[in-house]
Amino acid sequence: MPRESTITDIRAAVAASRRISRDVTLITLDCPLISEIAEPGNFVNVRVNDTTQPLLRRPFSIHDAEDGQITLMVKEIGKGTEIFCRCTAGTELSVLGPLGNSFSLGAEDFDTAVLVSGGIGTAPMRFLEKRLAARGKKVVNLIGGRTKDDLLPEGLTGCRFATDDGSEGFHGTVLGLLESLVPSLTAEGTPRIFACGPTPMLRAVARFSREAGIASEVSLESVMGCGFGICYGCSVEVSAPDGGTKTILLCREGPVIDGGRMV
Ligand SMILES: Cc1cc2nc3c(=O)[nH]c(=O)nc-3n(C[C@H](O)[C@H](O)[C@H](O)COP(=O)(O)OP(=O)(O)OC[C@H]3O[C@@H](n4cnc5c(N)ncnc54)[C@H](O)[C@@H]3O)c2cc1C
Ligand code: FES
Repeated sequence: MPRESTITDIRAAVAASRRISRDVTLITLDCPLISEIAEPGNFVNVRVNDTTQPLLRRPFSIHDAEDGQITLMVKEIGKGTEIFCRCTAGTELSVLGPLGNSFSLGAEDFDTAVLVSGGIGTAPMRFLEKRLAARGKKVVNLIGGRTKDDLLPEGLTGCRFATDDGSEGFHGTVLGLLESLVPSLTAEGTPRIFACGPTPMLRAVARFSREAGIASEVSLESVMGCGFGICYGCSVEVSAPDGGTKTILLCREGPVIDGGRMV
C-alpha cells in the first residue's frame, strides 16, 4: 500500500456541517495543505476543541478532498464525536494529517473495483470512488447496515444495499450480498475488493476474498493516540510472510492492509 507523504498540523476552520442521519454528520474543513496531498484511505487526527476534555485527538477517514477542503463523515458514539458534530461553521480546530497509508489505486490487475463497506466504514468510499473513476475503473458499491437507517450512500454511485433486517436491499450481511454477486462480477472481468467497516465484517470479507482468489485490501480501525507512530496504542497483529504473525502500528503501516494479511 502506498506510504504517507508530508504530515502537517494546522488550524482549520469548519466551512460547513450537515447532519445526514440521526447520528452522522458531514463536516467540511478548510485545510488546503492536507486536501492537496490526501489520498483515499488516509485519515486525519482532529482535536475536537481547545480544552483537555477530551485529551486525545480523534481519528477520521477522509471522506472527500477537493478545492482546498476535506470532508469527514462523523458518527456520534461518545463525547469527542458529539462535540465535533456540534461544531458550527467558523469554528477553528487543530487537524493533523494526512496520516496513514492509502488504498492502492494504481494496481493494473483489475477491471472492477468492488467497494464493500458497513456502517460508518462507508466514510472513505466517496474519495476512493472518485479517484478510481478518474482512472477509468468501473466501481460497484456494496453497502451494509443493520437497518436502512444505517446505510450511508452519500455521494456514491452504483450502490447495492444489504440490511440485517431486510428493510432495504439484500436481506442479510454485506458479505452475503458480495457472495451472491461474485459470479456476475467475475464474468465481466477481474474484480478487486476494497473494504472498510467493523473488524468482524472485514475478517469475513478478507477470508472470502482469499478463498475466491480475489485480491482485496481492507481498512482497519484500532484505538489511536498520536496517529503517527509515537504512542504504540494502535498495534495490531497481522500475518507474516513466514506463516507466523507480526505486530504492526496501524497508524503507520495501515490503516489499509492487504486482505491476505488479516489474521
Ligand atoms: C483510522 C481510523 C479512521 C476512522 N474513521 C472514522 C470516520 O471516518 N468516521 C467516524 O465516525 N469514525 C471514524 N473512526 C472512529 C472514530 O475515531 C471514533 O468513533 C472516535 O474516536 C470516538 O471518539 P468519541 O470521543 O466520540 O468516543 P469515546 O468516548 O472515545 O468512545 C465511546 C465508545 O466507543 C468506543 N470506541 C471508540 N473508538 C472506537 C472505534 N474506532 N471503533 C469502535 N468503537 C470505538 C469506545 O470504546 C467507547 O465504548 C476512525 C477510527 C480510526 C482508527
Ligand atoms: S496511534 Fe500512536 S503509535 Fe499509532
